[in-house]
Amino acid sequence: MLVLAIVGSPRHNGRSNDLAEAALRGAASQGATVEKLHLIDFDVRPFTGQGGSEEGANYCPAELSEAVATADALVLTAPVYWGDINGLTKDFMDSVALPVPQGNGLPALGAAIAGGSGKGLLSGVQSIYHWFYHKQMRAIDPTPVSRFSLADALQSLEHSGARLARMTQQRVSFTGDNSDARWPDVVAWYANLPYLRDGPAEEFLLLARQLLREAGPGVDHAAVERYDAALAARERGDLATAGRLATETYRILFH
Ligand SMILES: Cc1cc2nc3c(=O)[nH]c(=O)nc-3n(C[C@H](O)[C@H](O)[C@H](O)COP(=O)(O)O)c2cc1C
Repeated sequence: MLVLAIVGSPRHNGRSNDLAEAALRGAASQGATVEKLHLIDFDVRPFTGQGGSEEGANYCPAELSEAVATADALVLTAPVYWGDINGLTKDFMDSVALPVPQGNGLPALGAAIAGGSGKGLLSGVQSIYHWFYHKQMRAIDPTPVSRFSLADALQSLEHSGARLARMTQQRVSFTGDNSDARWPDVVAWYANLPYLRDGPAEEFLLLARQLLREAGPGVDHAAVERYDAALAARERGDLATAGRLATETYRILFH
């Protein structure tokens, strides 16, 4: 069983690569064959055609499409640029030849690294999972990463990679005779994945939580107070106040 990792960063040895390596270590621990490809090594071009999605394959090198089509599971890691995945990764998603019936039930795992301020770690990983969803893949464990959570993410991705490899032993396609008939099953699966519905307030809460955890026991008391107040505001459904308080927590702890 082949677990294929695609690295979307133009940097071969950046953090997206580290995340992919962690997932592949986990997959290899389960006896999977693993392979890693860097998009920057291929001539992936932006879609500039006039037709529909099927024309996209002209913009993705055939060997890259073939590698994806023959994989039993997919790992996709990407850097966050201005709150979203980088263009190279999006161009790959737009053009790789993986028809939906072939994507149906393909085990998939994605991680996005917002390695600067951390902003965009959720919106970035959500973009990857939008693609998994539209291809009707069976995606697991969305992994939003900042530099404050990198060590934890590397650990959790090893577990996720191992889980992904185990899923290849018995691939479970979504039920339905065609892609339209499968949506109820697909939607139900994605409804249970974490992070996919979270907006900016939740993103700052997550970053605040990561910074608090990193700061440890000696953490600034004012930051803890604001974070607790943010959680209380979210609990009573006041996301605007929760977001304001979470950004204050972040501002105190950001380094
Ligand atoms: C054009 C550009 C925009 C960026 N925007 C963000 C951002 O919105 N949020 C963030 O946390 N980091 C941002 N970064 C930093 C990258 O996410 C960070 O360098 C990351 O580690 C890149 O992934 P890589 O190490 O795999 O190359 C940006 C970097 C570039 C080059």
